[in-house]
Amino acid sequence: MNLLRDHDLARAFDHASHTYDRLTSLNPGYRTGLRRSARRLRLPDEGAGLHLLDLGCGTGASTRALLEAAPRARITAVDASAGMLRRALAKPWPARVSFLHLTAEEVASAGEGPFDAVFAAYLFRNVTDPDAVLGSVRTLLRPGGRLTVHEYSLSGSRVHEALWTAVCRGLVVPLGTLTGDRALYRHLRHSVAAFDTASAFAARLDRAGFTGVRVAPVAGWQKGIVHTFLARNGPSPASGATTTPTPAREHAQ
Ligand SMILES: C[S@@+](CC[C@H](N)C(=O)[O-])C[C@H]1O[C@@H](n2cnc3c(N)ncnc32)[C@H](O)[C@@H]1O
Repeated sequence: MNLLRDHDLARAFDHASHTYDRLTSLNPGYRTGLRRSARRLRLPDEGAGLHLLDLGCGTGASTRALLEAAPRARITAVDASAGMLRRALAKPWPARVSFLHLTAEEVASAGEGPFDAVFAAYLFRNVTDPDAVLGSVRTLLRPGGRLTVHEYSLSGSRVHEALWTAVCRGLVVPLGTLTGDRALYRHLRHSVAAFDTASAFAARLDRAGFTGVRVAPVAGWQKGIVHTFLARNGPSPASGATTTPTPAREHAQ
């Protein structure tokens, strides 16, 4: 199956934006998983004085998770889909949260940043060139800044692959067909199957120059299907380290 990309994907999300929150609320763990991944950023002092980027914010579920994890931070949230952004903007937000209609590929050239941390939830599987976007994230982050990616990225086990296929066939694609968004939910199914496994995405982060890369599972039925990836843009400013250590695949909780 041809995956949806760029303009076609943004159009598909525009259309699906009307039902997106209702459909994702049927997924037990969608929001708790996002909250857990945002907390894993471990931002100090409730994010006071920090500027955070939510890359691919959609209707704002990931932005809300970020705000809960860092209620005193300034947050810029961007998305390629005007329809998804309209849904996000219709929700109540404090003044230090702002939304921009930009693609992940455009943020750096739009003069945004620098950021202390970037959160990207369910984005990387959708972009045409994940390495280019990771490179761009590094230019957007301050040295030592944190990246958390929350993504459908299979463990590599056949059991998890079979569970994902069954959930998509039995629930995700039929429900998406009912809402008129069959192409998008078929894209979801196949983009997950085609995307990096968790260890391959961690290796991709290493190659992009991130340090301290760690992978953590989410709880519930998505265990082995969704992972949190944590990384830093070069050595932590406090560490005083001058070389990149060989990354240990620690598991964060
Ligand atoms: C599955 S939704 C997730 C939204 C939100 N992060 C959440 O957790 O609910 C993926 C979002 O990424 C956006 N997206 C996909 N490709 C993008 C790109 N290249 N630049 C910016 N946003 C993109 C889509 O428009 C969509 O809103």
